[in-house]
Amino acid sequence: MKTILVTGSSGLIGSEVCQYFAAAGWTIHGVDNNQRAVFFGPSGDTRWNQKRLSESIRGFVHHEVDIRDRPGVLTLVSEVKPDAIVHTAAQPSHDRAAAIPFDDFDTNAVGTLNFLEAARRVCPESPFVHMSTNKVYGDRPNRIPLVELETRWEYDNELRGKGIAEDFSIDQSMHSLFGASKVAADVLVQEYGRYFNMPTCALRGGCLTGPSHSGVELHGFLSYLVKCNLQGIEYKLYGYRGKQVRDNIHSEDVARFIQAFVEAPRSGEVYNIGGGWANSCSVLEAFDLTAKVSGREQKWTYQEQNRAGDHICYYSDLTKMRTHYPQWDISISLPEIIEQIVSAWKDR
Ligand SMILES: NC(=O)c1ccc[n+]([C@@H]2O[C@H](COP(=O)([O-])OP(=O)(O)OC[C@H]3O[C@@H](n4cnc5c(N)ncnc54)[C@H](O)[C@@H]3O)[C@@H](O)[C@H]2O)c1
Repeated sequence: MKTILVTGSSGLIGSEVCQYFAAAGWTIHGVDNNQRAVFFGPSGDTRWNQKRLSESIRGFVHHEVDIRDRPGVLTLVSEVKPDAIVHTAAQPSHDRAAAIPFDDFDTNAVGTLNFLEAARRVCPESPFVHMSTNKVYGDRPNRIPLVELETRWEYDNELRGKGIAEDFSIDQSMHSLFGASKVAADVLVQEYGRYFNMPTCALRGGCLTGPSHSGVELHGFLSYLVKCNLQGIEYKLYGYRGKQVRDNIHSEDVARFIQAFVEAPRSGEVYNIGGGWANSCSVLEAFDLTAKVSGREQKWTYQEQNRAGDHICYYSDLTKMRTHYPQWDISISLPEIIEQIVSAWKDR
């Protein structure tokens, strides 16, 4: 039986990966210290998800380790000797990072280095999958010519309907401190692949979403938007007339891609993983889609000032993922994702 070590196991992507690999017969070790509650307060608490994993995955082992604890990480990896590592633990918010720069960098950059180096010493042959972000491109996507449509912004050049590919520059733009710490981690992951020939990849996420997200205003766009809709909370829109576009991918489709990579790993790869054009929507469009499912109108307010570094229109070009792993494709559509999130918040 193979063993996988998943960091951030109580979070959205980590928990999905735990469930997905457990169903495929792997032994699951999760690492999470509920730091999300420290970053975002009680509404970011992920203990409910940790409990769910303990109850639903036979033999699930939870490790209450802080990924910043270098000796602790080395001991953990030495003890578990995993056949694969999926690193999803992070300070995930662009806006939150400015208030906690040391915590952000120590978690995102140094925490990633701790696991990479532990893996190199203990299990260099084991595939290492890192969750990166489209914020590594900074606000450069905002320099693409755009056209304003009735409910969304759209690319006004050859990228229209195609999206942003992995060769897009990550340099000389505004990233937010979060984007900068994630760039450091992303490049380290590539370097352990290229320099040490380890089977690593960085997945640059668009909007990763799904029913297991503990969505808060500062992170977890769709999850939080649906929560606002159901609870009658006013959703605050920041700039771009609410037409900013994000591409949404269900956490299960992320886990399926991770499995494809783990089964046939490559070295030092980078993939843009999002919902692509077909699963993209603007915030205004997300209001409508959600209202159709919940039967409730969205309450919202608008503020002219956009969030610093926010993308006006971003969706991923999925060509490289589909070419390297032809068995993989998006399997859950945007309306289905919203239905699942509505139903999950109602249950919770
Ligand atoms: N959700 C998105 O829209 C999105 C988009 C792009 C990239 N990503 C990336 O994907 C990854 C997973 O995102 P998510 O949405 O599942 O995040 P999440 O916040 O739901 O999960 C992350 C988990 O990591 C844990 N954690 C944080 N710091 C820790 C520490 N120091 N020690 C131990 N555990 C710690 C948290 O408690 C949390 O449970 C992150 O790297 C994030 O940057 C997410």
